[in-house]
Amino acid sequence: MTILLLGSGGREHALAWKMLQSSKCTSLFVAPGNAGTATIAKNVDLNPNDFDAVKVFVLREKVEMVVVGPEDPLVLGIYDFFKNDAEINHIPVIGPSKVGAQLEGSKEFAKEFLVKHNIPTARYESFTKETVEQGYQFLETLEPPYVLKADGLAAGKGVLILSDLEEAKTELRNMLVGAKFGQASSKVVIEEFLDGIELSCFVLTDGKSYKVLPTAKDYKRIGEGDTGLNTGGMGAVSPVPFADAVLLEKIETRIVKPTIAGLQKDGIEYKGFVFIGLINVKGEPMVIEYNVRMGDPETEVVMPRLKSDLVEIFEAIGNQELEKITLEIDERAATTIMVVSGGYPEDYEKGKEIFGLENITDSIPFHAGTKLENGKVVTNGGRVIAVTSYGNDFQEAIKKSYQSIAKLQFDKMYFRRDIGKDL
Ligand code: AMP
Ligand code: GLY
Repeated sequence: MTILLLGSGGREHALAWKMLQSSKCTSLFVAPGNAGTATIAKNVDLNPNDFDAVKVFVLREKVEMVVVGPEDPLVLGIYDFFKNDAEINHIPVIGPSKVGAQLEGSKEFAKEFLVKHNIPTARYESFTKETVEQGYQFLETLEPPYVLKADGLAAGKGVLILSDLEEAKTELRNMLVGAKFGQASSKVVIEEFLDGIELSCFVLTDGKSYKVLPTAKDYKRIGEGDTGLNTGGMGAVSPVPFADAVLLEKIETRIVKPTIAGLQKDGIEYKGFVFIGLINVKGEPMVIEYNVRMGDPETEVVMPRLKSDLVEIFEAIGNQELEKITLEIDERAATTIMVVSGGYPEDYEKGKEIFGLENITDSIPFHAGTKLENGKVVTNGGRVIAVTSYGNDFQEAIKKSYQSIAKLQFDKMYFRRDIGKDL
């Protein structure tokens, strides 16, 4: 089968790596890909959001399946674009429909869905420019800290957590009236702060049944001890050590099942990944967000632990036969540590040559922001390489990742040295 994977990060390198282990994958294109995907698959210079160009390519190369890595093409409706075009509607697209993608594309849509289907989440209300005064009043009814969320996609930056009421009011105004996050903050969800420890649950669904993938925890802040600015993720661990059988059972019955049932009840087509961001509040899991794709860097620890054939799973999703699949999971732990460009998540330089990749033998270096330049691998983004390792426990895996990172070098390279220390 000829497959086209859309995206260019560490997530896509890990998905490509996993799909290529399947005998069913005879040819894999990645658009646009990175230096890592270039070494295992064929990179294509194609913008995943340019659906007409994707269609031309798919027809020309006789692509038989499209797997979507990032959220943007999903929120823009790539699933529906294929479905509504007679020339390509036989090609399965792994991802939700445009409406389904609103679970990530609109915080308000997600909150309404959660409440409607009785899924535990923080109390909330949403506001617009016209109702900013009511927003202030709602803030006054809450205890600090205050959680303000831009409704739309804001590249992971649209959530503010503020300890001071006056500051929260000012920021609410900046978001709604001052368009702090552009169109994304023309609506703002204000919600109750949940105090607990975060984890993520990943689910595959064909819209009828579902399979739960291993849990993972990522490390979002740039600085050690979880300090400093938010990033896309600086490392991840799977499984999550504190997610015991009791917690997992609660997550499945109270959150996963009603989510999939809710999609069905609401007539929302969904054939892809559901990434559920959770907070464990004193043993009670609550949803903080949905994403309609895999996480990055969580994919770099979840995919290595999946023993089953991913292409077979995707085929079953396309045919709505996921029910027939049994997932096999590797008992070992997997960890990943993200090596980033100095300055990230603010300004950083690109084009730095990366040395030592070939010396990494005990880990898998998944490329995130890299590209090939005159045969050399150079940095091409903030997050550069996710160094994944297996271990009998997460401590052993983390140790291996750090040993491998010691072999890597590029100008202004940075990584957190405390991944897993909190567990
Ligand atoms: P989100 O984009 O909704 O995942 O929010 C980004 C981050 O903000 C989350 O990963 C949490 O760390 C934090 N967060 C979001 N909502 C809440 C909440 N209700 N209570 C506490 N922390 C939150
Ligand atoms: N690592 C978090 C995300 O992919 O959204």
